Amino acid sequence: VLKQEDMLIVQQKMIAPKIFELVLQGELVNEMSTPGQFIHCKPSRTDLLLRRPISLSSIDRENKRCTIIYRVEGDGTKNMSEMVSGETMDVLGPLGSGFPVEEITSNEVVVIVGGGIGIPPLYEVARQAHERGAKVISFLGYASKKVVYYVDEFKKLGDVIVSTDDGSFGEKGHVGMSLDKHLPQIKADAVYACGAKGMLAKVDDVFHDHPRAYISMEERMACGVGACYACVCHVKDEKDQSLSMKKVCDEGPVFKTGEVVL
Ligand code: FAD
Ligand code: FES
Repeated sequence: VLKQEDMLIVQQKMIAPKIFELVLQGELVNEMSTPGQFIHCKPSRTDLLLRRPISLSSIDRENKRCTIIYRVEGDGTKNMSEMVSGETMDVLGPLGSGFPVEEITSNEVVVIVGGGIGIPPLYEVARQAHERGAKVISFLGYASKKVVYYVDEFKKLGDVIVSTDDGSFGEKGHVGMSLDKHLPQIKADAVYACGAKGMLAKVDDVFHDHPRAYISMEERMACGVGACYACVCHVKDEKDQSLSMKKVCDEGPVFKTGEVVL
């Protein structure tokens, strides 16, 4: 059964230029537990027909609240950013596979790799890893200091290595460069990544044969529930390397490294 609800907007806040943190409340939160899953959000403007997929960034079941963080890109996200607390948002979900955080055990080293607007789903990964007693090391990359967000939140859960493309905050360069620099000193038991394709390709390369390294993919979506094939990506068969298609919305968005053709 598909779960849909008009969820109550309890908070809408701009946390960096064009980047918004939105807190929603409703019964749907009872269904949410896995980081990396997403909700399919209906803009309130009636001429915008398609829902917009946005990842869960944190889940608070006790208070029936979840948080999403999104960047204003086009009409849909602009419209979402203009909604205010007290209004409701038509939400479908939670959808997709999510990161297998239940594998994490105490004292394991968990490496998080996030770039830009790929960082939000990793916050709930870091929270749950921390709760399970793991040592969390987060590599977070941003374009510049201006668009840095959530670094303090991640710092509460473990070590954080920040990089910016222009060097205005943290290490200079893209996340891949920070990985090259620090990974020789780290023995990762599990790796969770989300970000631009180039960054994912780097993670896929470095952790190609790692048994517990995961990347979250982004493709344009329509239905969000596996019915329209708008969102396919190509995957390789482990044995004979033959290619097949998988739908990112319901067979992903999270895949193991070495699986997806990037
Ligand atoms: P427009 O460009 O006007 O959109 C036009 C159409 O294209 C819409 O149907 C829109 O949904 C689709 N579209 C455009 N860009 C994307 C895109 N990058 N991915 C998928 N569909 C797109 N963004 C965040 O800021 N925070 C998140 O946590 C987040 N999580 C995501 C999780 C998943 C699984 C996926 C697939 C995407 C996620 N995105 C996230 C990207 C977000 O869905 C797009 O930025 C958003 O749909 C853009 O809508 P728009 O109307 O503002 O832009
Ligand atoms: Fe329709 Fe994935 S968006 S099948």
